[in-house]
Amino acid sequence: MNLMDRPRRLRATPAMRELTAETSVEARHLITPHFVVEGSGVREEIGSMPGVFHVSADTLVEEVRADMDLGLKTHLMFGIPDHKDAVGSSAVADGNVVMRAVSGLKEKFGDDVITVTDVCLCAFTDHGHCGFVKDGRILNDPSVEQLAKMALSHAKAGVDIVSPSDMMDGRVGAIRELLDENDFTNTAILAYSAKYASAYYGPFRDACDSAPQGDRKSYQMDVRNGREAVYETILDLQEGADMVMVKPALAYLDIIRRVRDEVLCPVVCYNVSGEYSLVKNAAAAGLVDEANMVRENLLAMRRAGSDLVITYHGREALAKGWI
Ligand code: PBG
Ligand code: ZN
Repeated sequence: MNLMDRPRRLRATPAMRELTAETSVEARHLITPHFVVEGSGVREEIGSMPGVFHVSADTLVEEVRADMDLGLKTHLMFGIPDHKDAVGSSAVADGNVVMRAVSGLKEKFGDDVITVTDVCLCAFTDHGHCGFVKDGRILNDPSVEQLAKMALSHAKAGVDIVSPSDMMDGRVGAIRELLDENDFTNTAILAYSAKYASAYYGPFRDACDSAPQGDRKSYQMDVRNGREAVYETILDLQEGADMVMVKPALAYLDIIRRVRDEVLCPVVCYNVSGEYSLVKNAAAAGLVDEANMVRENLLAMRRAGSDLVITYHGREALAKGWI
């Protein structure tokens, strides 16, 4: 055949493919989530998420040390308190579980570690909603006030980045204002901007015991919408977000691309618990090649336009050379 174009030339050998690869996923692109409980010496595997653990603040330091050795420097913490009530008071209490986790890591690793904290009330409220509830409705503005206080407590503990995941209106601006008033002008905000009311959070809610009464559809986004993701993202940036997030990731690659094309700041996606557990269960059942599937999924998120990926796969993927 007399072909002008033979794209296979550049795919001929591993070295040629390595030379011409457009995308990569590296340790520096990954953010590792942790579920921090009260007490000490705790390290218990989470039933719905094989390979992911509940840890206490002291054990967290050891986990993170191992991760740091693999090149994972950025760590996202979710607090799970012993005490839950209607307003999530454990989330704002002095010396709360998240504050202890942050200060423990900062004491050990200083600026080598980047700490990120989830700012949301759902793991701290007895009704499991991300804000205050009255007569079956979510009260936006009082919830925002509480969320800002929660973020401030994390800042006082030395967190690098606070990450509001509640989806209340105006929370990024309120957090920025309260942080600045208290001289935390250097604490960054990673906003969960386009967070969908997704079925993929199931294993996480199990891990945090945070399944809500009813659903979250009055604050998390409708899965039918794409334009709205751009709208939410622009609002968060106007309110002072430093980075924005799309969540979940795999069923929302179109949204990642769309947001990437609209903004100039770093775009983060969250490869959520349900996506993780699907892969782990399929692999355990011998249905798929886990190494290749994890690599392919993470690359897809990067190719779609994510600068950074929050994922539960990072540690194993790096330790076993999958990426
Ligand atoms: C809390 C929060 C959730 C996740 C991150 N922050 C759950 C939810 O909104 O129900 C999900 C993370 C995951 O599934 O891995 N607002
Ligand atoms: Zn929440």
